[in-house]
Amino acid sequence: MTQRPLLGATPPMGWNSWNTFGAQITESVVRETADAMVATGLRDAGYEYVVIDDFWEADERDAGGRLQAHPERFPSGIAALADYVHGQGLKFGIYSCAGTHTCGGRLASYGREEIDAQTFADWGVDYLKYDFCYRPFGADGPTLYRRMAQALRATGRDVIFSACEWGINEPWAWARQAGCHLWRTTGDIVDNWKSIRDIGFGQAKMASYGGPGGWNDPDMLVVGMRGKGNVAEGGCTDDEYRVHFALWCLLPSPLMIGCDVRAMDTFTSELLAHPGLIAINQDPAGLPAWNLNGDENHWDWKNFQLWARHLADGSIAVGFFNIHDENTHKMVVGWETLSLDPRRKCRVIDVFDDEEVCITDVSFAINVAPHSVKLVRLVPILD
Ligand code: GLA
Repeated sequence: MTQRPLLGATPPMGWNSWNTFGAQITESVVRETADAMVATGLRDAGYEYVVIDDFWEADERDAGGRLQAHPERFPSGIAALADYVHGQGLKFGIYSCAGTHTCGGRLASYGREEIDAQTFADWGVDYLKYDFCYRPFGADGPTLYRRMAQALRATGRDVIFSACEWGINEPWAWARQAGCHLWRTTGDIVDNWKSIRDIGFGQAKMASYGGPGGWNDPDMLVVGMRGKGNVAEGGCTDDEYRVHFALWCLLPSPLMIGCDVRAMDTFTSELLAHPGLIAINQDPAGLPAWNLNGDENHWDWKNFQLWARHLADGSIAVGFFNIHDENTHKMVVGWETLSLDPRRKCRVIDVFDDEEVCITDVSFAINVAPHSVKLVRLVPILD
């Protein structure tokens, strides 16, 4: 018997409609997005799933009890849309909720898990984001997510199962066992610095729970939204988007693009498709990053964050994040805190520029401007 590949062996990559389109999502936007993912090279860079979030649903189920697509915004139906997306060499995802209604008040899957999972499988769905609104009092997260995971598995189709429970019942401790491939660790992200900073650097406590087959999900990317769209709340600078993307790559977190990929500027498409950053995110070992400045009581925790991660090839990715509002800061990493022999010489590669900065032992220091990041890869020179 041939072995099926592990679902979610590396963090899922794709696009989701929510951040930009919210309740206005239509089938033509989804089609054009699939086209743009091919044309801009995002598909070839590794982005695979095109996911429709909430508001695709009609007001009523059909005579057979099945969910149906909203007749005005999705007139061709979901199966045809999934076919189109598959035809572009991409995979197709959809959204429902563990309660009776979605967070947007549309019909959802509580008590209808089996028929909905079968409907999704029949339509060709490869990814299901499953929210947590309108669940009956007393119904607990592990039970509700396990129920839908079982229903999906019973269809025989490979479906990535994305739990959107906002971290309220510490899903990192149970969602993998409940059959989820990723689980939200936080409330909703919005497109501004405070949101990416607070969510992103709040990931230390659950970091060690993520790995092949099950990932912490600090929510979708706002890179490139530039203050436009459904969760736009001010926008970010280029440096801040770099901080956001570099941290999500390093954690590693799922990479679900949230901007309008039909209208990306060059900065955005180059950042999202950066081969060096994506290679770190998709590193086959899938080990978690850790925060080197320790716990929240450390004197400079609020200003400077140093994160590192061991990669499959024996190199170590190190992110120097300056989250101070005004001051440039010289940040230092010592080999000892990376479990490296201090005498070991390493090549220091700047990941953004894809250039060797120096060869050194003991430690490496770099100046980092406010609200910005330097990301390096330390490659031990073995003698
Ligand atoms: C919740 C989720 C969001 C989005 C909306 C849709 O708020 O956390 O990511 O799916 O619902 O209504």
